[in-house]
Amino acid sequence: MRILVCKNYDEMSKKAAQMILSQVTLKPDSILGLATGSTPIGMYKNLIDMYKNRIIDFSEVKTFNLDEYYKLPVDNDQSYHYFMDDNLFNHININRENINIPNGMAENIEEECIRYDEKIKKSNGIDIQVLGIGRNAHIGFNEPTVNFEKRTYVVELQESTRMANSRFFNSLDEVPKKAITMGTGSIFESKKIMLLASGKEKAKAIYDTIHGKITPEVPASILQLHNDVVVILDEEAASLLDTKEYKSL
Ligand code: GLP
Repeated sequence: MRILVCKNYDEMSKKAAQMILSQVTLKPDSILGLATGSTPIGMYKNLIDMYKNRIIDFSEVKTFNLDEYYKLPVDNDQSYHYFMDDNLFNHININRENINIPNGMAENIEEECIRYDEKIKKSNGIDIQVLGIGRNAHIGFNEPTVNFEKRTYVVELQESTRMANSRFFNSLDEVPKKAITMGTGSIFESKKIMLLASGKEKAKAIYDTIHGKITPEVPASILQLHNDVVVILDEEAASLLDTKEYKSL
């Protein structure tokens, strides 16, 4: 794992956007794995600016998002479909047909899970997967549990995750109890992985991810086994790490 520590959220976001720029410049038809949550919003803003300044071209890029709430209509402003349109897709020249987000409204959700994994496979796999991290070290919506899920599946959300995400809803009751998410196995198959974290409330999850035992109780700890992971942090998220372990930017 390469660990880069940036001064603050803005620097972290710039660095992350530069990595996506390099990826898309070297391979214009890159397959990007994308994430939601507050963490990547700054990176998306930088990518939009780069697009407006004609530095990056998304016309051949394909995307796969990690997850979506279960049975939350796509036009609900808390759905991850809505989030991605609002924070990225509506502002860049991506071809709509190249956007993939799990369909939490699918009538047959089991079939949808299989369809999603097959589509990733057919596209030859994700070139770079962007990840945020939950306070309990979840990635996508892979919650701490007793075994690593390999494939896309429907997950029951932990109360702590629902509470954390309730800040975006009117009340906790409105936060869906389930989600559809790529499994840790599907995430792990990405050629490169870029994990982003900012703020003190992520420091313990980051410490456990990098130094803890590899266990499904700390879903992100599986990344220790991947051969191409870059972790980009701000100083607060890195606050429990030893400064000798990382490169400061
Ligand atoms: C959600 C998403 C994750 C995200 C996490 C952290 O649960 N499913 O992909 O990493 O939230 O979100 P935030 O970046 O807002 O802290």
